[in-house]
Amino acid sequence: MEELLQRMARREATVGVIGLGYVGLPVVQALAGAGFSVLGFDVDAAKIACLQRGESYISHIPAERLLAYQRDGRVDFSSDYSRTAAADALIICVPTPLNDARDPDLSAVESTAGSVAEHLRSGQLIVLQSTTYPGTTDEIVRPILESSGLVCGKDFFLAYSPEREDPGRRDFDLRTTPKIVGGVDAASGQVAVALFEHLVETVVPVSSARVAEAAKILENMYRAVNIAMVNELKMLFDRMDVDIWEVIEAAKTKPFGYQPFYPGPGLGGHCIPIDPFYLSWKAREYGFTTRFIELAGEINRDMPHYVLRKIQAGLNARRKPLNGSRVLVLGVAYKKNVGDFRESPAILLVQELLSYGAQVSYHDPHVALFDSRRYGISLRSQELSAAMLAEQDCVCLLTDHKAFDLEAIVEAASFVVDTRNACASLPARLREKVVQA
Ligand SMILES: NC(=O)c1ccc[n+]([C@@H]2O[C@H](COP(=O)([O-])OP(=O)(O)OC[C@H]3O[C@@H](n4cnc5c(N)ncnc54)[C@H](O)[C@@H]3O)[C@@H](O)[C@H]2O)c1
Repeated sequence: MEELLQRMARREATVGVIGLGYVGLPVVQALAGAGFSVLGFDVDAAKIACLQRGESYISHIPAERLLAYQRDGRVDFSSDYSRTAAADALIICVPTPLNDARDPDLSAVESTAGSVAEHLRSGQLIVLQSTTYPGTTDEIVRPILESSGLVCGKDFFLAYSPEREDPGRRDFDLRTTPKIVGGVDAASGQVAVALFEHLVETVVPVSSARVAEAAKILENMYRAVNIAMVNELKMLFDRMDVDIWEVIEAAKTKPFGYQPFYPGPGLGGHCIPIDPFYLSWKAREYGFTTRFIELAGEINRDMPHYVLRKIQAGLNARRKPLNGSRVLVLGVAYKKNVGDFRESPAILLVQELLSYGAQVSYHDPHVALFDSRRYGISLRSQELSAAMLAEQDCVCLLTDHKAFDLEAIVEAASFVVDTRNACASLPARLREKVVQA
């Protein structure tokens, strides 16, 4: 342990990052920036080849820095997991999705732990960073690693530290966002804290991996529940002819005890719609039902249907059926200014529109190909022009990307459904064409 701590203190340690996606790739950059030698691993050979060519497949992560780090020998990428033995510490950032039954799918975590176990050696630190239910590191990852014959807390160290990345955010980054770290045992916690102290300004040590896992779920559940609450209020206030957006602006003038959340077309991304259900699943083992999570999930998952009803009602008022109508979706990414459409409400909305026979197209400056085979969608982003906007029976603003010139869009369109209140400041004559959803 002493030797590992010293290697970290002198920044002589080699750190491996497994899973080079939205979370893993920024961690590679941060480690290299902090002076560590970094080995990046991924099962996807195409991603490794892309990185080795000095290209990045994530729009907001520039390739230049990664290439410079590769050139000066600080970073190397590989699919060969036998090289994990060369790392002093390994950070696991693989996906934790839900399966078709909406239960946790830990297969990527399990197979990664299995690959690490095959090459595990004395003195290594393993940190799980994928979001998951409390107990995963201890109950799932530890036994797999110990199948190597090495003992946790004695021969190797094991900890959990959640990722709090918020893609597209500029006011906080990996360095300035406090990092929670919890070891499976005290020694593991101490070693993991020593590593992350080099990466972030504030490390928040907690007493166990379970507490760290639970804290991450609490953060995401808090968002899911509060967003569901304002989404439900939006639907009620719409019937009462009260503007939810004005209500929120008024409520947030209270300087304490209230934090604003905003309604939208539904949740998206790899975190908020998924992570709370990891806890729901685990709760069943304890004979417990997580009602807040279930209710929030029910409301948030139904929001694209609410948008659909608004489109349908607007077209109906214009004596047009959904069948055969041209509907342009503006923005399919799950949030503004990013290109990630995993779990995006656009998937369900487009699927429903297509099932009703609408002629659906979309424009998203961050998503060239909107391709979800699981949901039978394969569309390409269309160029915007006044002529193509004028041809649409409905333009539905789903994601309020900064790049959209809303004044020009609404000017050219005949009917706009706005799910983000993005058109609120347009002139009154344009707002007449806009319906909130
Ligand atoms: N994206 C976010 O903003 C965010 C924020 C906080 C936490 N998280 C969590 O971090 C974890 C990773 O998320 P992400 O968004 O980086 O995912 P991602 O899909 O962008 O990246 C995961 C990477 O892991 C690779 N991988 C390695 N081994 C794998 C295996 N055995 N099976 C499948 N894939 C394997 C994939 O090829 C992929 O490159 C998840 O648990 C997620 O919930 C994500």
